[in-house]
Amino acid sequence: MKLTFALMSAVLAASVSSVPMKRDVDPSLVPDFGHAANVNPTGTGDCDGAVNGTNGQPVKVPCSCPPDRNSFIQSLNANVNAGHAVNNPSIPVTFPTGQDSASKVARIQASLVTLQNLNGPGKGCPAASTTLVAQQAALQKRVFEEFTFSKRDVDPALVPDFGHAAGVNPTGTGDCDGAVNGTDGQPIKVPCSCPPDRTSFIQKLNANVAAGHAINNPSVAVTFPTGQDNVSQVARIQASLVTLQNLNGPGQGCPAASTTFVAQQQALQRRGTVDFLY
Ligand SMILES: *[C@@H]1O[C@H](CO)[C@@H](O)[C@H](O)[C@H]1NC(C)=O
Ligand SMILES: *[C@@H]1O[C@H](CO)[C@@H](O)[C@H](O)[C@H]1NC(C)=O
Ligand SMILES: *[C@@H]1O[C@H](CO)[C@@H](O)[C@H](O)[C@H]1NC(C)=O
Repeated sequence: MKLTFALMSAVLAASVSSVPMKRDVDPSLVPDFGHAANVNPTGTGDCDGAVNGTNGQPVKVPCSCPPDRNSFIQSLNANVNAGHAVNNPSIPVTFPTGQDSASKVARIQASLVTLQNLNGPGKGCPAASTTLVAQQAALQKRVFEEFTFSKRDVDPALVPDFGHAAGVNPTGTGDCDGAVNGTDGQPIKVPCSCPPDRTSFIQKLNANVAAGHAINNPSVAVTFPTGQDNVSQVARIQASLVTLQNLNGPGQGCPAASTTFVAQQQALQRRGTVDFLY
């Protein structure tokens, strides 16, 4: 496991350092304005914005707002590469590329700052010439929900299967066959009560995940990422192994060999490394 991750880190570090520092943003990640310029001109330079006022009528915005998307993206690139609004340097600008809601919120924020400082400090197009604020509010609600959900119990469907039943081939002295063969080619003996009942196991796992560490062995960290990628899957098996081995006290629980967890983890790591390298 250590070797796999050391290798991956080395390859990652090599590829990251060869990437130029300044890069333009991916236009497909730039949020849509959600509204066109020049809607319903009054004849005095004002047009309808994307947002209604308290009177239920569209807020008026300059007819040139929102700006042309291509020139907007050029301004956004300049701000992202500078790390702040070029025309208003005290306002930081970051443009994370993730598909998670928090990254999307940050990208909208970068776009709003760019929009509102297009031509000088505080000089640009009003937010109301776009639906960006409404888009951001909807995503912020999602961020909150995702955060709240992450504090809740783990999704049982994401808890790896033990891959082996308790009580197989009892010797009569409390030992049973484990899921793994020893060097003699015979199944390793494990307590007949291992692996534990899945429902009570998930309860212990929930407690450990909520605490961020094994409750019965606090120096051992426990995280339970929810992604479908192999790294997340490996981490979930790790959380399950730690829970299993510390069910009843520090280092007191069921042996890993009462499950196929280690083999499952190794299979994922092999696949991850192979996919990563080729
Ligand atoms: C603004 O009000 C009009 C009716 O005056 C309505 O059709 C429209 O959906 C409203 N737009 C927003 C963004 O609330
Ligand atoms: C353990 O060995 C038995 C034969 O003794 C074999 O049938 C079984 O597949 C082996 N199990 C594992 C997990 O290697
Ligand atoms: C992860 O494993 C799955 C199978 O579970 C495989 O299809 C996928 O390509 C692997 N991806 C990575 C990045 O290792």
